[in-house]
Amino acid sequence: MQKCFDFRSDTVTKPTPEMRAAMAEAEVGDDVYGEDPTVNQLEEKAAALLGMEAGLFVSSGTMGNLVASLAACDRGDEIIMGTKGHTFLHEAGGVSALGGIVIHTIPNQEDGTLSPADIRGAMRFPGDVHEPISRMLIVENTQNACGGKALSVDYMNRAAETAAELELYFHIDGARIFNAAVAQSVPAAALVKQADSVTFCLSKGLCAPVGSVLCGSNTFIQRSRRMRKLLGGGMRQAGVLAAAGIVALDMMIDRLDEDHVRARNLAEGLADISGMHLTKGSPNTNMVFVKLEDRDTSNVLKGLREHGVLANDTNEAEIRLVTHHDIDDEAVERCVEAFRKVMQ
Ligand SMILES: Cc1ncc(COP(=O)(O)O)c(C=O)c1O
Repeated sequence: MQKCFDFRSDTVTKPTPEMRAAMAEAEVGDDVYGEDPTVNQLEEKAAALLGMEAGLFVSSGTMGNLVASLAACDRGDEIIMGTKGHTFLHEAGGVSALGGIVIHTIPNQEDGTLSPADIRGAMRFPGDVHEPISRMLIVENTQNACGGKALSVDYMNRAAETAAELELYFHIDGARIFNAAVAQSVPAAALVKQADSVTFCLSKGLCAPVGSVLCGSNTFIQRSRRMRKLLGGGMRQAGVLAAAGIVALDMMIDRLDEDHVRARNLAEGLADISGMHLTKGSPNTNMVFVKLEDRDTSNVLKGLREHGVLANDTNEAEIRLVTHHDIDDEAVERCVEAFRKVMQ
C-alpha cells in the first residue's frame, strides 16, 4: 500500500509513545468534583506557562472559545471578531445559537491583525436601547485563515490596550499560541500578558489526542467551569486525557520550530512549480496556502491523493497544507513531487 502524507491539518497528529505511556499510568479522580489530580496538574501547568491565575481543561478549542464567550457575555451582548476568525467561520455560530450573543465582524488585515481603528468603529452606543452592548473582543493568534500568521507581542498589547480603553473583555483564540511564540522566539506568556483569557489547543501541533485549556483569572475560570458544565463538558476521570496534555506541554513546544522550517521548505518547493502561486507569502508558522491558476482545485486535490498526499481546500478556493509532527523531510519532498506531477 502506498505511504500517505497527511497535510490537511495539524489536528491529524497522533499521540506520541510518551503520551500513551502517561495516559496508561495517569492517576485519576472525578474532575467534576475537582478531584482528578492529573487534570488539576495540567490546569495549573497551563496557567503558569501563560502567566494566568487558573486554567480549565475543555474538550476542544471550540468549547474553550464558547465557554469564554458565555462566561463574559450576557444574551444580546456583542462580540467583535475578524471576518477570517475561526470563531466566526468554523464554530457553528455557537455563541449565537447557544448564548444569544451577536457577532460583529471587522476585516482582518493581511497580516492577520484587527486594526484598532476598526475595533473602535465597531463599538455600539451603550446608552442607546436600540443597540446590542459591545462586550468582548476576540483576536486569533496564530491567525489561521490569514496564513497561520504569528501576531507580535507589540500588536497583542496594542489590541489589549484598545479593548481596555473601550471596556471590552479581551479573549485570545490561541489555538496555536505556542506556534506564534516559537516562531517569534518569545514566551507565550508575553503574547497573552494583557488578555483577560486565552484558549490554546493541546491536540494540534502539540499532538495530544484530545483537549484544549482555557486560562484566565480565578474568578473567570470559576464562572467558566459552570459554563462548561452547562454545555455538558464536565468530564469525570479526564486525567487519562490530561496526562497526554502534560506531556504535550513538557515535550512538544520547542519542536514546533521544525514544523515551521518544513513549511518554509515546502513553500519554496511549491513556489517553483508553474501554474500555481503562494497566496499568503512565505509561511510564518506551519501553514502554506497556494492557489492554482487554470486548474480546478478539487481535481488537483484528487490527483494529489492518488500520489499519497492529502490536503484541504479553503473557502477562498486555495489549497492549504499544514506541517506537523508526522510530516518529515521526506513528506515535504513527496508533496512537492506530487504537485509537480499533478500540475504537468
Ligand atoms: C484558530 C482556531 N481556533 C479554534 C479551533 C477549534 O479547535 P477544535 O477543533 O479543537 O474545536 C481551531 C481548529 O482548527 C483553529 O484553527
